Amino acid sequence: MENANIPARYRFQFLSTIDLGESNHDPDLSFIVAHDWANELVHSWADPSFVPQGFYLWGGTGSGKTLLACVILNELIFRYGVKCKYAKVNKDFLSAIRDTYQTDSETHGQERFIEREFANVDVLVIDDFGVQKESEFNNRKLYDLIDSRYEQEKITLLTSNHPLDEWRERGQGRIYSRLMEMTKEIQLKCPDYRMKFTPERV
Ligand SMILES: Nc1ncnc2c1ncn2[C@@H]1O[C@H](COP(=O)(O)OP(=O)(O)OP(=O)(O)O)[C@@H](O)[C@H]1O
Ligand SMILES: [Mg+2]
Repeated sequence: MENANIPARYRFQFLSTIDLGESNHDPDLSFIVAHDWANELVHSWADPSFVPQGFYLWGGTGSGKTLLACVILNELIFRYGVKCKYAKVNKDFLSAIRDTYQTDSETHGQERFIEREFANVDVLVIDDFGVQKESEFNNRKLYDLIDSRYEQEKITLLTSNHPLDEWRERGQGRIYSRLMEMTKEIQLKCPDYRMKFTPERV
């Protein structure tokens, strides 16, 4: 759990703690579909005949993407002791790699080590995929990560505000092609859950 880097807000959240509409919040059907998908992944994990797949979960802000991704990590860690990791694409992955080039950084020279850590963990969440700047460096580092996880058949859970199709033309389509095979694309169409706690303005 300590190595998983799950943000405090989403730690100790489980399938059973998610609001599925029992309270006054009424989630969109798309949220139920995504929840069912997460439920199946978690409960079938130990079944040798089950072939797990990652997801590409996308939708508007506050629709519950980060929550669902972290719930899967929490469940897999607590039920099966699976090695999991959470990373925001910029802050936790791309910036961590860039830091290794700085001579005064604690992680100076450890680029390969960090990349291997992300490539080898059993289940990786890449949160906010698509917020990173379009650059040759970013595309190459993400391609290397995704290709390595693809080849090792590791599970990758991506969240984004943009549909997967936007990656068709980016990075020569090589990231897109792998993600199409590694993940199931699910769109969340729910309203912003954060607004539930905001008093209505008149
Ligand atoms: N169905 C739900 N049940 C309980 N809490 C929820 C639900 N959906 C969202 N939340 C809560 O609402 C807040 C926003 O959800 P979350 O951070 O997952 O949104 P997001 O889709 O990742 O948004 P963004 O695109 O802005 O990152 C979080 O505090 C989350 O725990
Ligand atoms: Mg989020």
